[in-house]
Amino acid sequence: MNALRLGVNIDHVATVRQARYATMPDSKNAEPDPVAVAGICERAGAHGITAHLRADRRHIQDRDLQRLRESIITKLNLEMGNTPEIVDFALRIVPDEVCLVPEKREEVTTEGGLDVVAHHKELSGTVKRLHAAGVRVSLFVDPVREQIDGAVALGADMVELHTGKLANAFTEKIEQQELERLREAAMRARNFDLQVNAGHGINYRNIALIHKIPHLVELNIGHAIVARAIFVGFETAVREMLALMKNYRG
Ligand code: PXP
Repeated sequence: MNALRLGVNIDHVATVRQARYATMPDSKNAEPDPVAVAGICERAGAHGITAHLRADRRHIQDRDLQRLRESIITKLNLEMGNTPEIVDFALRIVPDEVCLVPEKREEVTTEGGLDVVAHHKELSGTVKRLHAAGVRVSLFVDPVREQIDGAVALGADMVELHTGKLANAFTEKIEQQELERLREAAMRARNFDLQVNAGHGINYRNIALIHKIPHLVELNIGHAIVARAIFVGFETAVREMLALMKNYRG
């Protein structure tokens, strides 16, 4: 079993920049630069960089992704909603991987998984176009049997299991039921030869629970690492998370 891999989501580095410079993108003072942070994360051992291009461009901008595409030496995972404009953008940038997520403008973050059963028809064309461009496709889904089967039906390469509920349940100390759902979903996905990733709400404390989910290949973690980096810097924040991911038994 290979070591569990870490994709660092750098959206909230851009959130800090946009808080002040959204209307002055060309200012020489527009900082912090998510591209510079991506390089630090890679040097600290991250296996990939993840960024979410939202329709409202609230954090990551098109230009960030163009620059990330040129500078990343690990791999670029673009999280995105399945809208024509964003899909066209992805096909111009050609990230290594795309993770399709639901996109609702009003939500603070991605609240639930993508319903890959209800949206099979629209997703099918997008998965095919991305595959034709050589992009590996992940679907961000709730840990539910029908959604795993839906991902298989779409010919996805990977699923990213939504761990947000587990993270909330952990805080309330009622995690057992959600953990069981994640375990079953991971086993089902693995049986269908899907790569199994996980993401959302994972932090330095609840990562202990993630070790109880089998077959995981990669975690995508954003907010907790950015928050920790405020205190210790990105290099240490990434190294600390990698240390907590070590000895994953699969
Ligand atoms: N994975 C997906 C699909 C997401 O939408 C997000 C949030 O953008 C993350 C992972 C990272 O979540 P967090 O910032 O809570 O670590």
